[in-house]
Amino acid sequence: MRKSELSNLPAHVAIIMDGNGRWARRRAMPRFMGHRQGVAALKKAVRYASNQGIETLTVYAFSTENWQRPQEEVDFLLDLMYKTFVQEIEELIEEQVRIILIGDRTSLSHELLEIWTQAEERTANNTGLTLNVAFNYGGRQELVAATKNLAEQVARGELAPEDINEENINTALYTWRSPDPDLIIRTGGELRLSNFLLWQAAYSEIYVTDILWPDFKERDFSEALQAYAHRERRFGQVPVKE
Ligand code: IPE
Ligand code: IPE
Ligand code: MG
Repeated sequence: MRKSELSNLPAHVAIIMDGNGRWARRRAMPRFMGHRQGVAALKKAVRYASNQGIETLTVYAFSTENWQRPQEEVDFLLDLMYKTFVQEIEELIEEQVRIILIGDRTSLSHELLEIWTQAEERTANNTGLTLNVAFNYGGRQELVAATKNLAEQVARGELAPEDINEENINTALYTWRSPDPDLIIRTGGELRLSNFLLWQAAYSEIYVTDILWPDFKERDFSEALQAYAHRERRFGQVPVKE
């Protein structure tokens, strides 16, 4: 793995890959063409993150709210996700990427879950980049699921209510294997989280670019990392140099 020449690299980068529809509309193309082009941008971003030596990359691919889009678009996105996994799995294994699905698995099709489980199992021992794919993911739903999990532990007598703390809440989240994101990048210019990593984003640095996701290149990723390197993370404390 080639180590980055950039200083102060974030260990965990999360990306809200937004703007596929607008990318297509600007070219008078149907929205799905934007999603297809978005996969190409994702492949570049994964390779770049891996080459830079970033430890964890989390990408927002489909939100719990995205089910409300026209059925045709939802079907296309589900199919695209399935096909992308089938096509890319061998290369991801070769590149030592470890894949983890974060999101609500209960309402996904048997087919998609099957390919997903396979991808997770076949890459579980890989030692390179950890790629969390947020699919059917919603931050609030994740917190509801975590709360149920803890409540069940309490009901079984395994956990006392007074012992509920940040650590066991963290452990009950889909992202329990990963540290909190240091940097959240959003393409497409919207200044919101759209239900992404609500708990985990408590102290993340946020970087928004107007570039639409299908246009997001290595150079843009590098710019985001450079901007991050200049941020002063205070975590509620007073500045270091004062
Ligand atoms: C992001 O692009 C991809 C998904 C949400 C699946 P959009 O499809 O939201 O693109 P815009 O925001 O309409 O341009
Ligand atoms: C966020 O984008 C979800 C993903 C990128 C998968 P949206 O396009 O769904 O977000 P809103 O609707 O603009 O908030
Ligand atoms: Mg959008």
